[in-house]
Amino acid sequence: MSLRTSRKIPSLVKKYLMALTGIALMGFVFAHMVGNLQMFVSPEAMNQYAYFLHHVIPSPLRWAFRLGLLLMVGLHIWMAALLKLENRAARPQKYVVNRWLQASSASRYMGISGFILLVYIIFHLLHFTVQSLHPEFQMLTYEMEEKTVQDVYAMMIYGFSSQFWYISGFYIIAMGLLCWHLSHGANSIFQTLGLRNERIRYHLHEIAWWFGTILFLGFTSIPFAVLIAETSNILLPTQPVLAQIETWDGESPIIIDYSQNEIPVQHSPRHLSRKMGQP
Ligand code: HEM
Repeated sequence: MSLRTSRKIPSLVKKYLMALTGIALMGFVFAHMVGNLQMFVSPEAMNQYAYFLHHVIPSPLRWAFRLGLLLMVGLHIWMAALLKLENRAARPQKYVVNRWLQASSASRYMGISGFILLVYIIFHLLHFTVQSLHPEFQMLTYEMEEKTVQDVYAMMIYGFSSQFWYISGFYIIAMGLLCWHLSHGANSIFQTLGLRNERIRYHLHEIAWWFGTILFLGFTSIPFAVLIAETSNILLPTQPVLAQIETWDGESPIIIDYSQNEIPVQHSPRHLSRKMGQP
């Protein structure tokens, strides 16, 4: 990637491409958060939603959507890198220090937060979509209207339980970065699209801030609720779900009985790892 490549694409086109791919990605993230909140409705609602994504949407459409997302992420990063190159080349050397000091912490850290988010997305796909970190997720089974589907509800409870506190911690930190990145990104989009004038500047700033905050609260509510429920059994049936996973024989599918909300729990986090042959 060179400055020559960058100059072939007019600056305005790069800025618009960044803004439009940013808007599309924000739309996806918001819809994903709303979908995830089915966790607070019921196991049936969450698993219905997951079933819809995997089996009702036709496979070609699902893959077209995934490829579209990948393209958006790729274009967004590419345009960001080209704009950065261009800005650097246009900046006279003697102003470097002053400019750096003047630049808001936001613009300075957008690149770093974007990179950490990319790492997070790769980790997240391995965690919940490919499920390579926890092969036992695939054993979680849910019977729904004569269909046998994966129990995504129990998977999230198990995946965010306190034995994997470092994973929940990584999610919570990544969500903080994501929401910070998105709220500053939203501000830049307003500017690129020529919407940010002095009169409404403050309101647009507030809208962007609220957008980031709602996303943060929506996403992190799940790991937080699982951790809280593990000690108090409010919000989600974490204790009975973990207790039933713990009695798993290590071979047959795990079918959680969600009517067992009151069973006494003696949860030992290491128990299941030993069954899966992990240290
Ligand atoms: C606490 C926060 C999050 C939770 C609990 C969560 C949960 C999930 C789950 C359960 C799946 C798998 C759905 C399934 O295959 O049944 C999934 C897929 C996915 N998530 Fe998340 N997610 C979170 C945050 C995010 C964020 C912030 C992003 C993007 C920046 C994201 C991007 C994706 C993508 C791209 C997929 C794959 C979709 C596909 O299979 O086509 N997730 N997420």
